[in-house]
Amino acid sequence: MAAPIILALDGLERPAALSLAEKVAGKVFAVKVHDLYLAEGPALVGALKRHGRVWVDLKFHDIPATVRSEVKRLVSAGADLLTVHASGGREMIEAAVEAGGPERILAVTVLTSLSWYDCRALFGDSPELLVQRLGRLAAETGARGIVCSPLEAKALAADASTANLWRVTPGIRPTWYQDPGDQKRVATPREALAGGSTHLVIGRPIVQAPDPSAALDRTIAELGAR
Ligand code: C5P
Repeated sequence: MAAPIILALDGLERPAALSLAEKVAGKVFAVKVHDLYLAEGPALVGALKRHGRVWVDLKFHDIPATVRSEVKRLVSAGADLLTVHASGGREMIEAAVEAGGPERILAVTVLTSLSWYDCRALFGDSPELLVQRLGRLAAETGARGIVCSPLEAKALAADASTANLWRVTPGIRPTWYQDPGDQKRVATPREALAGGSTHLVIGRPIVQAPDPSAALDRTIAELGAR
């Protein structure tokens, strides 16, 4: 069975991304692309889909009519999952859900690269409160899940209004990987699953490893050691 891991193929060129997607096929829940999609376009999704689900993580944030058109384009390209910023508002998420179908839409709550201080300065609230508010909005508008930090997943799982959402969490750092990089609200894979995450998004610790496939196996082994 595939691990609940979504592998972010960030910063890779097409040959490396396709070869890694082939190697990890069946081991991960999905692969995720963003910058490579911008370079390669819809044909990339078709090529990646031979190996499993593809999430095109463009994090749309615009007026509802524009987001509706953007989502339709990605659906035509074959994206299995796609993201909008929940802060785009109710009508915008509803437009995305209508155009993409509820199964495809994940709503980003608060970027995991924002610290508690950033959240207070930008939005006047703690990440916990912001994520709770945006999570409820995502549930009300029919999104499949939300993207949040592993540190907020437990509260969302315990809240009846958000408990059914997938809690997709970046900011995952395996125990053997010391560098948080730009991520501020982080956890290890085991901590994240124990804390209520349903899917773990992992990029640099795996794709920048000298042997990405081995790094994935090591991460999966770490999960299995629960
Ligand atoms: O390399 P790393 O494991 O930090 O990658 C995390 C991935 O998750 C990146 O592709 C990033 O764009 C994405 N992401 C995130 N925080 C969010 C939403 C998506 O880090 N809130």
